[in-house]
Order: sequence, then C-alpha cells, then structure tokens
Amino acid sequence: MDQYEDSRESVPFSSFAPPPEEAQTDIPNAARMYDYYLGGSTNFAADREAAEAGSAAMPHAREYARANRAFLGRAVAYLSAQGIDQFLDLGSGIPTVGNVHEVARPLDPTARVAYVDHEPVAVAHAQRLLAGHSNVTITLADVRDPQAVFTAPGVAGLLDFSRPVGVLAVAVLPFVPEQRTALEVIAAYREACVAGSYLVLSHISAISATERQVADAEEVMARTPTPVRWRPPHEITELMQGYELVDPGLVPLPSWHPQDAVAHEEIEVSNAYGAVGRLTR
Ligand SMILES: C[S@@+](CC[C@H](N)C(=O)[O-])C[C@H]1O[C@@H](n2cnc3c(N)ncnc32)[C@H](O)[C@@H]1O
Repeated sequence: MDQYEDSRESVPFSSFAPPPEEAQTDIPNAARMYDYYLGGSTNFAADREAAEAGSAAMPHAREYARANRAFLGRAVAYLSAQGIDQFLDLGSGIPTVGNVHEVARPLDPTARVAYVDHEPVAVAHAQRLLAGHSNVTITLADVRDPQAVFTAPGVAGLLDFSRPVGVLAVAVLPFVPEQRTALEVIAAYREACVAGSYLVLSHISAISATERQVADAEEVMARTPTPVRWRPPHEITELMQGYELVDPGLVPLPSWHPQDAVAHEEIEVSNAYGAVGRLTR
C-alpha cells in the first residue's frame, strides 16, 4: 500500500480532500509526529514509524506532548484574563483539541488568532477546520522569516501591532537549533510588539531524560528534514530576554499555573520547560 492509500484510510481529512501536493507524506514530519503523540490521526506511516523510534529513544514523548498542549491552553487562558485579544501562534501545528482560538474565543468572542506553520499538511488541515470562522487565519510561512510572517495577509490583515499581542512560540524553537539564530528570530517578534504584549514559550529540555536519551531523540529527528535541539534551562531563559517573567518564571510545564496538584512524576516525564513573559518597555 503506498503512503497516499495509507493516508486515505487513516486520516479523516483525507476523506474530504487529498494531502496538498507539496506535502511529502513519505518523509517523517515533526508536525505530524507530534499529532501522532497526541493521539491525532493526521499522520502517515513514515511519521508513525519515526514517532515510534522517538518513543523508543525517549520513552515519555507522549507525556511531553500532552504536557505541552495543556500548558498552551493554560497560558492562552491566562493571557485572555490579562486582556489580550490578539494572538500570533508561531509553529501552530496540526489543529487538534485545545487550539488557541478554541481556548481564547469562549473567553472573549472578539479574540483574533493568526496561526503560522511551514508544514503544508498542518496548514491544509487548519484551512478546512477554520473555514467559516472569522478573525482566525492560518498562514503557510517559515517563522524564521519574521518579515514574511508580518507581511502575510493572514497576519497583517488580522493583527494590530499598535496594540498588545500575545505571541506564542510553543514547542517551535527546538526547530531553530542555533542559539544565536533563535535569539534573532525571537527578537524580531519582540521588537514588533508594544508594551503589554506577551510571549508564551515552551521548550523541550531534560528533566528525567538521560544524556543518552536526549542524544538518541535528537538523532531520530536528525533523520527528518527538521532536526531539533534540546536546550538547557539557561538557554531557554535567554530566549525570554526583554520580557518580564510572569510568576513562577521558567518552570517544568506541569508546574506553570496548574489547575490541580501536580505529581512529581508528571514533572519528571514532561521533559520541557515553559514561561510567559510580559513586555514592559
Ligand atoms: C511540536 S509542534 C508544536 C505545535 C503547537 N505549537 C503546540 O505546541 O501544540 C511544532 C510545530 O512547529 C512547526 N515548525 C517547525 N519549524 C518551523 C518553522 N521554521 N516555521 C514554521 N513552523 C515551524 C512544525 O511544523 C510543527 O507544526
């Protein structure tokens, strides 16, 4: 069975439309591997194989993905409570449960959300999901090219950068492995924002994972077109420079504004940190 046949069987949106032509469904893809970890079905055999190899290398990949997604939801709700009504979601991924607009709009029906991803399947899927929604857009762009993002109609036509914006860089900066490049990219978004704007950032980082597991997990991703790098906490903190961190600062994802008591094991297996920062200048 070829990949396309396989995808038609297992991917709900493929029953409505084929994957976009530019989607390379026979090459593992980070967005679709993440979707698989979250229990989604917008993934193909090559993605599932690579994701299983990732799980073998780093046993708690699923727990990481779930902790990350839950952090995103809590952070968006927090921003909404602070009056943020415009969101720029960088590396938004394949829409699954708890998308930014699904969290923000019940809290503020006027909220505007601009999603950006460079993965054609994620974008095609989002286009279908968002059809008929006003004030929610999806843009196919590379977040490492901020000018392309700012000038895209889905961003320029939706967000007003003269007012505070909530920028989300949730689980996307591992795909920008070089620290100086990541700092430049994040600075470009910071500089476009006015005081009162926020940055939500999460990043994979060893908590319970051993050095060997990290190296093996990086090796799995090195075989895909989008290698990743795990960062130590001090490098993640550096990415938040220019922002005043909201309490409790940079912490393991489950510990950021938890709704319930957090078990120690939950923290250990999350293997990622998150923070929310506010621009005060
Ligand atoms: C692990 S997923 C995270 C999805 C979502 N932000 C979340 O946290 O649930 C990472 C996403 O970033 C996207 N991505 C990676 N590098 C990117 C880049 N340079 N430009 C745009 N998107 C990128 C991938 O396609 C993928 O959808």
